Amino acid sequence: MEFYRTKDNENMADIAAQIFQRQLEQKLDSVLGLATGTTPIGLYDRLILLNKKGILDFSKVRTVNLDEYRGLTPEHEQSYRYFMNSHLFDHINIKKENTNVPDALKEAEVACREYDELIEKLGGVDLQLLGIGVNGHIGFDEPDTVFPKGTQCVKLAQATIDANARLFNDKSEVPEYAITMGIRTIMMAKQIVLLANQSKKEIVEQAFYGDITPQVPASVLQMHQNVTVILSGE
Ligand code: GLP
Repeated sequence: MEFYRTKDNENMADIAAQIFQRQLEQKLDSVLGLATGTTPIGLYDRLILLNKKGILDFSKVRTVNLDEYRGLTPEHEQSYRYFMNSHLFDHINIKKENTNVPDALKEAEVACREYDELIEKLGGVDLQLLGIGVNGHIGFDEPDTVFPKGTQCVKLAQATIDANARLFNDKSEVPEYAITMGIRTIMMAKQIVLLANQSKKEIVEQAFYGDITPQVPASVLQMHQNVTVILSGE
C-alpha cells in the first residue's frame, strides 16, 4: 500500500490525476471504476483540463461507476448518473454509451446480475477510484458481518443517510436503498486509489492500520496488492 498525506485537497487531486494520466498513457482503452461524492470533484476537474489540453484522450475509455441510489432517475439532480454527467462526462471526449452506472430503476436482482456481467465482459476494472464513508463504507458497501461479493442492493446505514442528507433538500428525500458494486469486484480491480479528506482521518486510520473486518468495509483493501491511499490535510 502507498499512503500519501497531502497538505490540501488540491495536492490530493494533483497526485490522483497523475495516477489516472499514467493509466491512460499505458492503456488507451482502460476500464475506469469511478466514484461520486464531494472528494473526487477536484480530480475530475483536473481530468477535464487535461482532456481540453489534449493531454488525455477518453475516446476509447470505458467506465463503470460504483453505485446508484435506488429509484432515482438519471435526470434527478442527486442521482449518481447526473453527478457523473455534470462533473465529468459532459466535459470530456468520452462516448456516453461507454459510461455505466448501475440501473436504479430496474428490478434489483436483474440490475445487479447485469452489472456483474457487464464488468466481466469489459474484462474487469483497470483502475478503481474510491472515496470512503464516515462508517468505513466503500461504494455503498455498508458495515456488515461478511464482505459482500458481487453487485448488491443494500439498505443504507443511518450514518450514510445522515452524512448524505446535506446534498438533498430534506433528509426524508435521501433514498433508503442503493445498488452497489460488491467488495469482490472492487478487490479484483488491478489498481485502486482511495481519496479522503481530513474529516475522514480517523476512519481511514482504522481501515488501513486496524483490523481487517467487514464492520469497516474499507479495511479489506489492506489485502489488495496495488492500492494508493491519499489523505488530504484539509
Ligand atoms: C457516498 C458514496 C461513496 C463516497 C461517499 C463519501 O456514500 N456512495 O462512494 O465515497 O459518499 O462521499 P464524500 O466524498 O462526499 O465524503
